[in-house]
Amino acid sequence: MKTDTIILAAGKGTRLNSELPKVLHPLAGKPLGWHIAQAVKEYTEVPPTFVVGYGAELVKTRLGDAFHYVLQAEQLGTAHAVQQAQASLQGQSDLILVLLGDMPLISGQTLQSLVDQQAQNTGPVSMLTVNNEQPRGFGRVLRTTSGEVLEIIEEVDCTPEQLNIHELNVSVYCFSAPWLWENLSKIPVSAKGEFYLTDIVKIASSQGLNVQATILDDPREAIGINSRVHLAEAESILQERINTRWMDAGVYIQDPRSTFIEPEVQIGKDTVIYANTHLRGSTSIGEHNTIGPNSLIENSKIGKHCKVLASVLENAELEDHVDIGPFGHLRKGAYLEEGVHMGNFGEVKNSRLGSGTKVGHFSYIGDTQTGKNVNIGAGTITCNYDGENKNKTIIEDGAFIGSDTMLIAPVKIGKDARTGAGSVVNKDVQEGEVVVGAPARAMRKHKKTSD
Ligand code: UD1
Ligand code: CA
Repeated sequence: MKTDTIILAAGKGTRLNSELPKVLHPLAGKPLGWHIAQAVKEYTEVPPTFVVGYGAELVKTRLGDAFHYVLQAEQLGTAHAVQQAQASLQGQSDLILVLLGDMPLISGQTLQSLVDQQAQNTGPVSMLTVNNEQPRGFGRVLRTTSGEVLEIIEEVDCTPEQLNIHELNVSVYCFSAPWLWENLSKIPVSAKGEFYLTDIVKIASSQGLNVQATILDDPREAIGINSRVHLAEAESILQERINTRWMDAGVYIQDPRSTFIEPEVQIGKDTVIYANTHLRGSTSIGEHNTIGPNSLIENSKIGKHCKVLASVLENAELEDHVDIGPFGHLRKGAYLEEGVHMGNFGEVKNSRLGSGTKVGHFSYIGDTQTGKNVNIGAGTITCNYDGENKNKTIIEDGAFIGSDTMLIAPVKIGKDARTGAGSVVNKDVQEGEVVVGAPARAMRKHKKTSD
């Protein structure tokens, strides 16, 4: 059976008190709408249709062109929102799954079983409910004494007795498509001037048709985001899920409560993650690494047997056996080959450090390429920016850069050359040469003791 999915996301999210449309608010670094689309992907390859309204253009740009969009120019309620998709979806599918743009914790498995259930249902609709003592403003599910679902009553319209009902409407429904399109326009306008999708249940039951309601096992899947407090609750539930998944996959997480791993991150087994660590974006971390405490790694790639202590990595790449920190900062385009050591207060940007290179303390390395086994003394700076251009520094294999050297780029330091402490190097240094002073001048030829 072909199933189309409609995600209602036209609302502003007034209770979030924000200019950003609700469906774009981030959870674990991804918009709410992204999470819902992920769940949809688990049961169908058919791209969902988002109903957008408030901030429509921004929503389309941010969520991207992998989905269909229809516009609800005026937000006249959830049934009116579904109606906006009728013209493009009618006649296309057997089943229609409707869910909200503000329920990011719903799982693909749950959606799949609802679709399976409706495929078997003799009646026109299957829906999810949840039993919860805390109603969170959800609609109440009214059943007959023999258990048949009669209708959904919104909290504002409930009598005091109805407010005591603990079975709540999750707002995930799977409909027989032809029945939905035929009956949607029968929904009456509410006292608030809106058309509530919830009223479709009463239409089905009054036609004597079966409404199948399934109670969710895990009420946390049903969390709808209406406020920033809800957003924080969902964040911690999602983190717990993600951290548990990685622990089951063989990653040691010292303190899951202070470890924030975004959904697309990859981690190899026997990697250890210490407290207060954030792993973001497309980061991929191999096996047997030690990360943290206190590290932030974004869109970066780490090999095996590396150590990252109290450091920040953004768009950087480490080969195996690299160690960084404490207080290292790798910025965009930093590439550290095997066995590089970077000590405290080092910053590397758009540079490749050759294998075995050591940058011990207090250095800025930008737009630089080093060879193998280069030693960069404390306080060394590549002066890569002359106010107009970014210039390159090249340091060849085995060179030794004395503490507090200023390398005025563009400049090249030859193989096995040395610079004295405090040198200001504004001319290329030849292979094996030793330079000192400011600006540095040639002094003598350096003989390598190990040769
Ligand atoms: C809705 C349900 C309620 C259920 C709850 C679960 C209705 C009338 N009520 O209430 O029974 O318990 O969800 O979370 O359906 N939207 C549009 N266009 C509109 C109105 C809303 O696209 O004209 C979208 C919003 O962007 C939002 C979703 O529909 O993502 C739900 O709207 P919201 O106002 O949050 O409904 P609830 O009050 O939570
Ligand atoms: Ca809601």
